[in-house]
Amino acid sequence: MKHYTFLVIHGPNLNLLGEREPAIYGTLTLEDINSRIAEFAKSNNCMVSFFQSNSEGQIIDYIQKNRNCDGIIINAGAYTHTSIAIRDCIAAIKLPCVEVHLSNIHSRERFRRHSYIAPVCIGQICGFGYYSYIVALQALIHYLENNAR
Ligand code: DQA
Repeated sequence: MKHYTFLVIHGPNLNLLGEREPAIYGTLTLEDINSRIAEFAKSNNCMVSFFQSNSEGQIIDYIQKNRNCDGIIINAGAYTHTSIAIRDCIAAIKLPCVEVHLSNIHSRERFRRHSYIAPVCIGQICGFGYYSYIVALQALIHYLENNAR
């Protein structure tokens, strides 16, 4: 298996995990989640770079600057439901991208059901808490192994 490098991007308010609505998002902090992702990546011979921002422009700048990676996992938080700019950025860079959510966005308020980002991703994983990121990483590796570009 190739030594892939991935970006893991966390959008607005995910820096507050642990204290933010724990009944919905659980009690793990972002640091806890990142270390579980890093551990899984390491055991699969992959490199992951983590980035969190509350700002749409910073997320876009980070994706553009680091588009020499093999793939992207993104939890865009509320920008999922609003950001045509992040969608256009993902479409522009032509890298495989997986959309992730901790909660099941389809079982919550109606406005969370629509994602601007999902149509330009290879898939969407939601509802499994931190494990959504692990499933996304597995799926991304499987995709790259089976869809040589
Ligand atoms: C979220 C779901 C979004 O609707 C919400 O705005 C978030 C977190 C999730 O991980 O479940 O900030 O992306």
